[in-house]
Amino acid sequence: MRKQVIAGNWKMNKTHTEAEDFIQTAKNEVPSSDQVESVVCAPFPFLQKLVEETKGTSLEIGAQNMHFEESGAFTGEVSPVMLNELGVKYVVLGHSERREIFKETDEEVNKKVHAAFKHDLTPIVCVGESLAQREANQTMDHVENQVKQAFEGLTDEQASKVIVAYEPIWAIGTGRTATSEQANEVCTHIRRVLIDFYGSEVADEVRIQYGGSVKPANVDELLSQSDIDGALVGGASLEADSFLKLVEAGK
Ligand code: G3P
Repeated sequence: MRKQVIAGNWKMNKTHTEAEDFIQTAKNEVPSSDQVESVVCAPFPFLQKLVEETKGTSLEIGAQNMHFEESGAFTGEVSPVMLNELGVKYVVLGHSERREIFKETDEEVNKKVHAAFKHDLTPIVCVGESLAQREANQTMDHVENQVKQAFEGLTDEQASKVIVAYEPIWAIGTGRTATSEQANEVCTHIRRVLIDFYGSEVADEVRIQYGGSVKPANVDELLSQSDIDGALVGGASLEADSFLKLVEAGK
């Protein structure tokens, strides 16, 4: 039985005070981590404070990106070593906004996944098709390709710990959610790809989240699907009340 993982992705939102208010409200209200994994992926400047404030609670803190190198001349970048030192536990990798706006490649995403494991961070690897790809019937091939490249070279043990986030680009921030059937169809395909690679024992352990306009009103139906094991949530994770409803649904 896979434990659901509900992760908020704040993206480039919130002031320090707003982040603080959210955490004070949410940190003691989230269900116990035996029931559901609750994660907030916050901007870099807030991470240290949020990790400190959530110590001893069931709310975990994640980052939204990192470089794959451990140190060096990479102005403006943050390394996996730094995140691990802060006590960050999760890192979102290959979000479509990073792939589109910052031109991140599948190869870089794969290097980041390896770097995450080397430094005890759980990678949340985002995959998903554009509207044009969906309309051209390329969804399955595209997502399959992204998954294969992201997992390249991982051991069975590492593969079983990856969290995959299936986020159709056309559903992100648009209010247009994939139907639960559409979402589950792709998540099932992702699991099949992983079965081919690693066998069903490993593939059955991998959590696959859905992301794209998830909100309290649609989360139950999405989470009830056979191959959806959680959600990666943007807009609806910004308010503590709404985030708490989402994690409740994951119990
Ligand atoms: O990573 C979460 C995301 O891209 C979905 O955003 O605002 O549609 O929930 P949103």
